Amino acid sequence: MKEKNCLIFGGSGQIGRHLIRKLTKNNYRVTVVTRNIHQKGHIIKTQGNAGYISIVEANIFDEIKIRKLFENADICINLVGILYEKKGNTFKNIHTLFPSILAKLCKQYNLKHFIHLSALGINEAVDSKYAISKLNGEKEILKNFPLSTILRPSVIYSVDDNFTTNFMTLLNRLPMFPLYYFGRTKFMPIHSSDLVEVIFYIISKNIYSQIIECVGSETISFREIIEKLLFLIDKKRLLIPIPLFLGKLSAKIFQIFPKPLLTEDQLKLLKYDNVISGNYKTNLDINCPSKCFFEEEVEKYCYMWREGGQFSKHNILKKEKK
Ligand SMILES: NC(=O)c1ccc[n+]([C@@H]2O[C@H](COP(=O)([O-])OP(=O)(O)OC[C@H]3O[C@@H](n4cnc5c(N)ncnc54)[C@H](OP(=O)(O)O)[C@@H]3O)[C@@H](O)[C@H]2O)c1
Repeated sequence: MKEKNCLIFGGSGQIGRHLIRKLTKNNYRVTVVTRNIHQKGHIIKTQGNAGYISIVEANIFDEIKIRKLFENADICINLVGILYEKKGNTFKNIHTLFPSILAKLCKQYNLKHFIHLSALGINEAVDSKYAISKLNGEKEILKNFPLSTILRPSVIYSVDDNFTTNFMTLLNRLPMFPLYYFGRTKFMPIHSSDLVEVIFYIISKNIYSQIIECVGSETISFREIIEKLLFLIDKKRLLIPIPLFLGKLSAKIFQIFPKPLLTEDQLKLLKYDNVISGNYKTNLDINCPSKCFFEEEVEKYCYMWREGGQFSKHNILKKEKK
């Protein structure tokens, strides 16, 4: 059987690393486009056997260079995304314009699949620039290449994330932790490996479902997430519900920093539950349910945030399992 060539954008990130491992193990060849081969080359190269991975350094808007890569591709996967805007890195450019270009190229070069990572809850979050840009990106994609499959995941976690790992760092350092909207916002966190299973399933079973919401096995509120993380790292912290005006003020200050902890736009997003809408197919409907559970998975890597690191003892979960 002829090996399939996957062209991946944003492959050095959390999902990308897991995905490259899965694809190369299953004899797919991948070409990963990165902005900086010196910084990201070793991360990408080590995810698969020699010969299965090619890395191309390019500006994602360099259409002449990007176009060439489509000549040998069967499948294109877009994992590029940002959480905040900085200079030319606007939501519109990254989440709307770029996916639209990719979809046009997929159509022009007659690719078998275009899989694009969008986000859950973007129909509801009408006042968020992030959500609007993702939604407009989806519209452009479906207009330009109707065979595309768009995945809308809830928050994604793994040892490589910027979510549980960042929160555990903050919980370690701060004596108290702010709860926006009383910590009531609900999430259905999905493990990176479960999401990768969905992507692989779509490719290998040739599923063309347009929009699929991807969620984990549990619905957990923001407060519960923080409490679970505190339990896992053996810390007690004061959880303080923050009035909205203070939340907005802190976001205004945070977003001045180069890598903001919170922006005003993220605060708007936090207002809306990040759960299945009921209007689209989910990973369960396509027979690809999540297998991982939040606490069990984070337990595997959270020890680095505990007192004593790898020598720390925390047997509560193990006792519960017995
Ligand atoms: N993580 C979540 O909880 C979550 C939830 C819902 C949706 N999503 C979506 O899922 C996709 C993948 O998520 P992820 O967590 O794997 O993302 P990630 O770890 O942040 O990685 C994204 C990759 O995109 C590339 N990238 C970032 N900014 C870029 C820019 N301005 N220009 C060009 N490339 C850029 C980077 O690759 P190089 O540095 O190699 O160029 C980076 O490795 C994104 O579209 C994201 O919006 C994520």
